[in-house]
Amino acid sequence: MVQYSDSLSHLGTESAFEVLAYAKRLEAQGKSIIHLEIGEPDFDTPKNISEAGIKAIQDGHTHYSPSGGMPAAREVVAEYISKTRNVKVTPENAVVMPGAKPVIFCSILATINPGDEVIVPDPGYPTYESVVSFLGAKPVLMHLREENGFRFSTDELKKLVTPKTRMIVINSPQNPTGGVLTAKDLETIYQLAVDNNLWVLSDEIYSRIIYDQQFESIASIPGALERTIVVDGMSKTYSMTGWRLGYAIVPPKLAQYLTQIAINNFSCTATFAQYALMEALTGPQDDVDHMVAEFKKRRDVIVDGLNQVEGISCLKPLGAFYAFANVTKTGMTSAEFAKMAMDQAGVACLAGTAFGKYGEGYVRFSYANSVENLKDAIGRLQKALAGAKQV
Ligand SMILES: Cc1ncc(COP(=O)(O)O)c(C=O)c1O
Repeated sequence: MVQYSDSLSHLGTESAFEVLAYAKRLEAQGKSIIHLEIGEPDFDTPKNISEAGIKAIQDGHTHYSPSGGMPAAREVVAEYISKTRNVKVTPENAVVMPGAKPVIFCSILATINPGDEVIVPDPGYPTYESVVSFLGAKPVLMHLREENGFRFSTDELKKLVTPKTRMIVINSPQNPTGGVLTAKDLETIYQLAVDNNLWVLSDEIYSRIIYDQQFESIASIPGALERTIVVDGMSKTYSMTGWRLGYAIVPPKLAQYLTQIAINNFSCTATFAQYALMEALTGPQDDVDHMVAEFKKRRDVIVDGLNQVEGISCLKPLGAFYAFANVTKTGMTSAEFAKMAMDQAGVACLAGTAFGKYGEGYVRFSYANSVENLKDAIGRLQKALAGAKQV
């Protein structure tokens, strides 16, 4: 028998892709499904950005480029972060990679040893916990509670720090809850990191998808960049999930290590795609504004609708494009609810437990879908739940 690596048993998966595959199978059998499971904007990539990518291909930018990103792209990223986070960042701090996910993977790989502890949000984006476990380190769960707006509790967080803690992962606006950390929360995290000599991995992929308030980054705190890994990318803000473009802002030494990992792994990010990145970050931003305004309308539709369904209650998310609804009063577990929604209502959504054990009792609906479909989904859920009650 050929062998597989033992560490694979610690590697998780992302159930959004599994649920999508199941939903597609049901559709192939003729069932109508409303897709509220996958986390990607339903808008086209803005035309000016696509055209920049096409032009780059036509101009012959189809060869290898430097592993940490093209110098011009790193410069654009550094300027963008300097402007949006109000901090001086240079191209030496910037590394371009094929998505935010490789940034997360490579950054944890470059900073964490087996046996170390990493504090991760729960419910949270599953990749953090999965990668930490895969590398033989220990994920320590930071419970984000609904009654706290899905932000961490300072007292609880402080108790999680041990001599083995090496990193705290934060994600604001957050997937799956839509929670947003305040400047005060970030100050607390930063102080904890300084006092205990920790890294902070700050996943800011939803930084531009935020409603009614200003985005706050830990990178804006003077001195924080020495120990902060800012993760951002093009997937969500510019509706570019398939282009695979992300970037890290890190201390120059870590940027060099990330580049060395890139050399040994994917060599470089697609060269022509980096031209699209440069157009996205420097060109007109109207499409982003339009998309965020549209997401806000949809958020209100889905949250108001969910709150009218008996047994469901849902906090208003402050950012990202997910509604994280409490379904405990339906008497179903998260997994039972998600299965009922799919099989009986034709609504694809994700059990909260896909985001960690503290996701039990919740279901994530992505509202990257039309208002019409969102209203239809609410109606279907209402009907299916009423039917379930009569049985
Ligand atoms: C919190 C978070 N971080 C990172 C990513 C990955 O983004 P990318 O497409 O850039 O790899 C996602 C995508 O769902 C996400 O929700």
